[in-house]
Amino acid sequence: MLVSAKEMLNKARDGKYAVGQFNINNLEWTKAILLTAQENNSPVILGVSEGAGKYMCGYRTVVGMVNGMLEELKITVPVALHLDHGTYEGALKAIEAGFSSVMFDGSHYPIDENIEKTKEIIRIAGEKGVSVEAEVGSIGGEEDGVMGAGEIADPNECKLIADLGVTMLAAGIGNIHGKYPANWKGLDFDALAKIKAATGNVPLVLHGGTGIPADMIQKAISLGVAKINVNTECQLAFAEATRKYIEAGKDLQGKGFDPRKLLAPGFEAIKAVVKEKMELFGSINKA
Ligand code: 13P
Repeated sequence: MLVSAKEMLNKARDGKYAVGQFNINNLEWTKAILLTAQENNSPVILGVSEGAGKYMCGYRTVVGMVNGMLEELKITVPVALHLDHGTYEGALKAIEAGFSSVMFDGSHYPIDENIEKTKEIIRIAGEKGVSVEAEVGSIGGEEDGVMGAGEIADPNECKLIADLGVTMLAAGIGNIHGKYPANWKGLDFDALAKIKAATGNVPLVLHGGTGIPADMIQKAISLGVAKINVNTECQLAFAEATRKYIEAGKDLQGKGFDPRKLLAPGFEAIKAVVKEKMELFGSINKA
């Protein structure tokens, strides 16, 4: 059964480790992440962006697939199904469809509007026991070829949003989605410490987990980060393993073209990335 992210993140915050959010794109992704979590006795959060939700034929399809897998694969570790960077309408739809956690990303609104909309999502989600992630200070990254710098969140604004009763808070600290540019300055730990001091007990979320060096991840966890999002790294690993399979001509040998064989190396590559991240985040055996 899907669970909200609340309990697993509060435990992670208290135990000084982080739970990974791994974004899913299809059946192989979902199965790879769930099996790896179970094998390592780790809690896990499956992230679904609005785009990935559409790709997988809507939130109801995703909920059906994930619930089916939890049962058929006998998954007993805590699993949250979480909408990643949801719009206001998207968050409502995901809650309605059976997601156990949603992010409402109001970071691009003026702070007053972000507060009003976040408050409303918390009220509606609360009725169903669904956890809510909010965001302050937009997270940069490449969009249509334009590289946006990660914005640093204002600690006072973080406090205003945290005080609404969000389950977890994403705050920009120079992190960006996708690969980091060669001249990236690294995470802003002064900003993180100030945000932590201002927000008290709310578990903090670090987006853009791909490519952040291990020492920075560990320092971020020590300063209050309890959830780390990883997406691009699984995509890169999947693509590389699939490319190698085809470049080696394996799809032309025997029944190597069978999708169950063709997608197997990519599936194993995702499992390896997820396991490595769970080790780094410290969530192994914390189910
Ligand atoms: P990456 O794609 O950089 O790992 O970021 C994932 C993320 O933050 C999803 O919200």
